[in-house]
Amino acid sequence: MTLLQVMADGDAADVRLRTDDPGEIGAELAKRDIVFDRWPALPGLDKTMPTTEILAGYDERIAELNADGRYKFVDVARLHPDDSDPGWPDLAAAARDKFRSEHRHAEDEVRFFAAGRGCFYLHLPGEVVAVVCEGGDLLSVPAGTRHWFDMGERPDFVAVRFFEHEDGWIGDFTGDTIGERFPTLDELVAA
Ligand SMILES: [Fe+2]
Repeated sequence: MTLLQVMADGDAADVRLRTDDPGEIGAELAKRDIVFDRWPALPGLDKTMPTTEILAGYDERIAELNADGRYKFVDVARLHPDDSDPGWPDLAAAARDKFRSEHRHAEDEVRFFAAGRGCFYLHLPGEVVAVVCEGGDLLSVPAGTRHWFDMGERPDFVAVRFFEHEDGWIGDFTGDTIGERFPTLDELVAA
């Protein structure tokens, strides 16, 4: 379920809006100049679909998004629970922690979730806008916007990433611990 929750930036308990209505989510994000889109599911798409098939299946959408050739690098990041691997919990925790602290990038952070989910938290003037993205959702975090990302306790997603520069994913961390004061992906979804 795609979900939008808007909270006061100084008080996570001050929930100003919570909605799972796709039209309302798009409108609220558009008001804030944040690109949000939904792409149709590919036939047979699930989290086991190989990366090459996902990229091939969405090639027209990807070409349309990249009509001006802005994104020089398009790849797929994926993580799925593997309970047969004793190292998986540590690997998952390390991946999760990497971007749970507030940071920003010099370029837009553009992600299309082909499957699974993850939550972006955008720290805007006076508010934190949390967007739980699910399979089919595309979100672009504008360059320079303070934000963090939570992939949850059991990371499980396939995301197409778009970069202008090969190192575009590297974060400039603000040192602000604001992310610790807001509900996690799992808490948001369970609420
Ligand atoms: Fe980021």
